[in-house]
Amino acid sequence: MLALLNRRMKTKPLRVALLGFGTVGGSVARILSERPELADRLQLTYIFNRGIARKRAAWVPSSVAWTEDVDELFRSKPDAVVEVVGGIDPAGGWVRRALQQGAAVVTANKMLLAAHAPELLHLAVMNHTQLRFEAAVAGGVPLIHGVREGLAGDRLLRVAGILNGTSNYVLSRMASGNEPMAAVLDDARRLGYAEADPSADIDGEDAGAKLVVLAGIAFRRHLRLPDIPRRSIRAISAADFRYASRLGCTIRQIAMVETKGDGFHAFVGPALVLRGSNFGLNMGANNVVTIAGYYGGENSFSGAGAGGPATAVAVVSDLLSLTERERDHGEEWLPARAVPPPARPYYLRFVVRDRPGILASIAASLAHQGINLDAVLQEPGYPKGALPFVITVEACEEVALGKAVQEIAAADFHAEAPLAIPMLLGEDPRT
Ligand SMILES: NC(=O)c1ccc[n+]([C@@H]2O[C@H](COP(=O)([O-])OP(=O)(O)OC[C@H]3O[C@@H](n4cnc5c(N)ncnc54)[C@H](OP(=O)(O)O)[C@@H]3O)[C@@H](O)[C@H]2O)c1
Repeated sequence: MLALLNRRMKTKPLRVALLGFGTVGGSVARILSERPELADRLQLTYIFNRGIARKRAAWVPSSVAWTEDVDELFRSKPDAVVEVVGGIDPAGGWVRRALQQGAAVVTANKMLLAAHAPELLHLAVMNHTQLRFEAAVAGGVPLIHGVREGLAGDRLLRVAGILNGTSNYVLSRMASGNEPMAAVLDDARRLGYAEADPSADIDGEDAGAKLVVLAGIAFRRHLRLPDIPRRSIRAISAADFRYASRLGCTIRQIAMVETKGDGFHAFVGPALVLRGSNFGLNMGANNVVTIAGYYGGENSFSGAGAGGPATAVAVVSDLLSLTERERDHGEEWLPARAVPPPARPYYLRFVVRDRPGILASIAASLAHQGINLDAVLQEPGYPKGALPFVITVEACEEVALGKAVQEIAAADFHAEAPLAIPMLLGEDPRT
């Protein structure tokens, strides 16, 4: 253990230079600045953007150099360059330059990869470095790590997914609200889910570029984006959803590639999908991807397909995996301290021999512990000698609830022991 720690102490942090301080770049800098526990592995050294004076942020550590001169950044010889500028030029030239001088590159740029991945991956190999791009497909969903590492043992047959959040937002809203596409698109623009010109999203170019990247990861083949048949979702109307519904289906923009003999079939466009399937249940701007393998069957990945913080997590994870390769693969698990759960709402189920005053007695025991009732539910039709009913209570400490339930359980009206289970209603763990 000591030898391992000593070896780790000697490994210097990776010096990271950031190209682009926009939605994703700002969030990458934020994570690197706010997580001091990463400092022995990753050190942000440079931030490059045009018009840098209007970009400077006070929360970025003073050790980080800001520049609008890309040559200055390259002269600093960073170990890794994060490219989150977007577009093919000039970003592509900067990625080439970084790889040529031996820096690893982490990029979120699906358009660049769809056009030039084979050349850039080759350049990385020739310069004994790496090009990583977890953030380029499905934003924060660890899809590429999942396919590359988790499913490497399978022979993959098909990759299918909802890869464009804007189209999914539009179609899932149309499905539930019977609204015309134009009205939903207006709302999507207002809420920031769609750009002023949403053509790349709804006509399939964005999902197509991501499909090219996914096919590269899953099959090690480069499909050309112009060769992928693409159909727009523009033609879908409210009536289509009504008919789809009668067939047990709904409509989503699907991007799919599957092996066929020694070739590949790929397409992007609207498709009927079962309402209860992963695709049919996928709402709003969420992404979901299903990978089918010969041995392991289907696995699905889903989550936030875009957004600065989620996408930045993928970028930082790529940076961290670069550091893993230079280190021992040994890892330490330090002892953890168990703490009680946070205050939560609970579901309490009672089965009682009915008589007057039971509810008042239970409410009194809860009140002794400062616990508030939320709702009382009782279905009709049960016998008086074993009458089930449910009380939900507002968020309370487990210890207080335990005391209240113990007091309630001591009463003589129970036909069965009371049941208390927490209600996990999707609270945000950050709050
Ligand atoms: N946003 C997401 O949710 C998301 C999700 C997955 C992947 N991505 C990918 O991540 C990349 C960045 O996206 P983003 O949303 O962060 O874009 P963004 O907010 O527009 O950020 C791009 C940054 O690069 C700067 N920039 C652009 N062209 C430049 C040039 N020629 N010279 C110097 N600086 C330049 C921009 O400066 P200005 O402020 O002057 O324009 C801006 O600060 C894209 O490839 C995108 O496809 C984004």
